[in-house]
Amino acid sequence: MTAARESIHGQWSSRWIFVLAATGSAVGLGNIWRFPYITGESGGGAFVLVYLACVVLVGLPIMMAEILLGRRGRRSPINTMAALAEDEGLKPAWRYLGWMGVLAGFVILSFYSVVAGWAVAYIVYVASGTFAGATIETSQGIFDGLTGSAGSLVLWHSLFMVMVVVVVARGVQGGLEQAVKYLMPALFAMLLLLVGYALFSGDAVSALHYLFEPDFSKITGDAVLTALGQAFFSLSLGMGSIMIYGSYLPNDASIPQTSIIIAAADTLVALLAGLAIFPIVFGYGLEPGQGPGLVFITLTIAFGHMPGGQFFGGMFFVLLTVAAWTSAISLLEPVAAWMVESFGWSRLKSCLVGGGGAWLLGIGSALSFNHWAGFAPGGRNFFDWSEFLSTSVLLPLGGMLIAVFAGWRMRLASTMEEMGGGPSAMFRAWLGLILFVAPVGVLVVFLEGTGLRALLVDALGRLAASVFG
Ligand code: PFF
Repeated sequence: MTAARESIHGQWSSRWIFVLAATGSAVGLGNIWRFPYITGESGGGAFVLVYLACVVLVGLPIMMAEILLGRRGRRSPINTMAALAEDEGLKPAWRYLGWMGVLAGFVILSFYSVVAGWAVAYIVYVASGTFAGATIETSQGIFDGLTGSAGSLVLWHSLFMVMVVVVVARGVQGGLEQAVKYLMPALFAMLLLLVGYALFSGDAVSALHYLFEPDFSKITGDAVLTALGQAFFSLSLGMGSIMIYGSYLPNDASIPQTSIIIAAADTLVALLAGLAIFPIVFGYGLEPGQGPGLVFITLTIAFGHMPGGQFFGGMFFVLLTVAAWTSAISLLEPVAAWMVESFGWSRLKSCLVGGGGAWLLGIGSALSFNHWAGFAPGGRNFFDWSEFLSTSVLLPLGGMLIAVFAGWRMRLASTMEEMGGGPSAMFRAWLGLILFVAPVGVLVVFLEGTGLRALLVDALGRLAASVFG
């Protein structure tokens, strides 16, 4: 069945290119910017352990499911879901799951590009010596100066979006493949160099204690939820990215094997990012739990004082930019591929329209930090709403439905065929996780993240009171 289908967009030249591309999608701002600061806020080593469990028990099975669906459908997520629903004799409404994914990708791209723009701006700032001798106040001032200026934010956001469109417009083999082939090895090399620099010039011992010494009293319900949400975002799950990358995967590549490599590489990069950041932060007696400002405000102070700080600091932000770039192309790809398939547009036109739309939406996020800062219906500004709707609503909902579709709705014969044939131990383990553990885990994240759980508990409480009270 699958062998009969071919993607009109082409195919990866090898499974290793697929691994690089999917790792490029997974490794992004989530690993290098977000993972270290939430680890900082959520108690270090204990959080890391919970995170690892979430990756293995929930992230990995859903990643396999997404690749499986993509490779079987061989189209953009919307058309893949429509085709698979038909193959499996299911309701055509399943295509809305594809819609949710593409929509989530579009919205994530809009604000992701704004934050990636900060990273691009910081390459220039740090490398040109702006942080020389910086204090907490001056560093905070530089960050506020950037985010307070709508013009600067839009400029950097635009530059980043152009970089994304240029790659995706050149197609799967001519654009995406070429980009990841050079950028991913460069990313790993820079990361290792930075870890070496941090371990030698910072306080490695404190950083290792902080990252790896588990304090189980810190494992609260909140920490588990944060870890699960982070695992999901970091592995690029719940939307069309991994699915569409799977649609370009050669038939003979093993889905379990490639998924394990991708998830392991993503986790390794997150941990290495911690090892590149915390030794420096501790070495300069700075506060590790500073939230989103950790790399932009805290880390830059240290770079402003260290020998070689200008060079290595500049490299750190090049690393962050490259990581964001290879993720952003995976956010535009599903949107562009869908336009090519559905409207018969050229790839260039599809990328200009898709990327242009996300750019426009991103302006709203850029303005949330300055002119529109006061506009916050429901306590969230435009940026917060974009992030909330995509990552707290659409991603978990999409991930849960993907698990339900692959586990509960598809024929076993179909999933088994994609996962390598017989009912191997690997297949049975996957099935157990995708049937029960993954959907429940993601449902909990969804209910908690949207505040629905509190509403439900409240409503049940009232009901009980009125019945029994
Ligand atoms: N995984 C990326 C990161 O960790 O930054 C973000 C991301 C990319 C999320 C693609 C979702 C996605 F589909």
